[in-house]
Amino acid sequence: MPDDILKDIESEIIDSTEAAEAFRVKYLGRKSGKITGMFKQIPEVPPQERKALGQRINQAKQRAEARLAAFEASRAPRDDAPHAARMDRTLPGRLPAPPGSLHPLTHTLHDIAQVFEGFGFSIATGPEIETEWHNFTALNFPADHPARDMQDTFFLEPDRVLLRTHTSPVQIRALVAEPPPVRIIVPGRVYRNEAVSYKSYCLFHQVEGLYVDEGVSFADLKQALRLFVQAMFGDDARMRFRPSFFPFTEPSAEVDIWWADETLPQKGRWLEILGCGMVDPNVFASVDLDPERWTGYAFGMGVERIAMLRYGIRDIRAFYENDIRFLEQF
Ligand code: PHE
Repeated sequence: MPDDILKDIESEIIDSTEAAEAFRVKYLGRKSGKITGMFKQIPEVPPQERKALGQRINQAKQRAEARLAAFEASRAPRDDAPHAARMDRTLPGRLPAPPGSLHPLTHTLHDIAQVFEGFGFSIATGPEIETEWHNFTALNFPADHPARDMQDTFFLEPDRVLLRTHTSPVQIRALVAEPPPVRIIVPGRVYRNEAVSYKSYCLFHQVEGLYVDEGVSFADLKQALRLFVQAMFGDDARMRFRPSFFPFTEPSAEVDIWWADETLPQKGRWLEILGCGMVDPNVFASVDLDPERWTGYAFGMGVERIAMLRYGIRDIRAFYENDIRFLEQF
């Protein structure tokens, strides 16, 4: 008899709380449960059989309880996924999904590129891992000159290979790749081992410009950059050229933009956005171009600087933190 009941217990279907309750009453109910009833019959069998019968009834009882426990466990939410049992995965997703947006640096890069494409420049790129020759030597940085330290270079193993400190090495790559006339801009990421602060980060973006042809003048450079600043910052933007030094341009200048700020006693200040100049004859020589024939100008601008000015961002680190509250504003 208890053997039959074991089979019955295993073949019951328990697929709902109602079925589980019916099962419990049927087998374990106090008054008329089958197993309860079997315990009550033990005194009626011969004494020497009582122990074995009791053990078999107990076994049936444990199986019945185990089946109820298994059903309960299958219903209860799992500890590691508290909401899983209540989540209906067949429901369609909630629409519309919040749209993404372009990063403010991407917007700024696009805008810069658009202006220069209008001037007839095309876009070139180069590697971020550079040789010392492209990054410094061919650009007329003297060997062992402190100018190489000036840019706080991240050198890689083996030595003579580095993370480019500026996009200027692509000037060299472009002039090696094809003969002038060359008219390119080079957007890209550059690296410098500087102390991180609100105004400098270990990586940032530049847009290099290079125009090489016969008879290019400093007036051409000034005109291109003046039109660029007007396109980016409006016709009223104030700018100035300030004499400067770069090993690969002669003469060299930096361009500052007037940043109006009513909280300052002088009502604003000049902020540098780019370096520029006429391509140094030594650069032409290092790529086997005749310095007597070719002339050119070059410039390199900081994209973060320009984005900070346009959007009024005061800390460069905001570009790299991926804080959605910052990013979703653009
Ligand atoms: N490469 C220079 C820098 O990173 C900027 C520059 C580019 C200056 C081209 C002159 C000409 O500071």
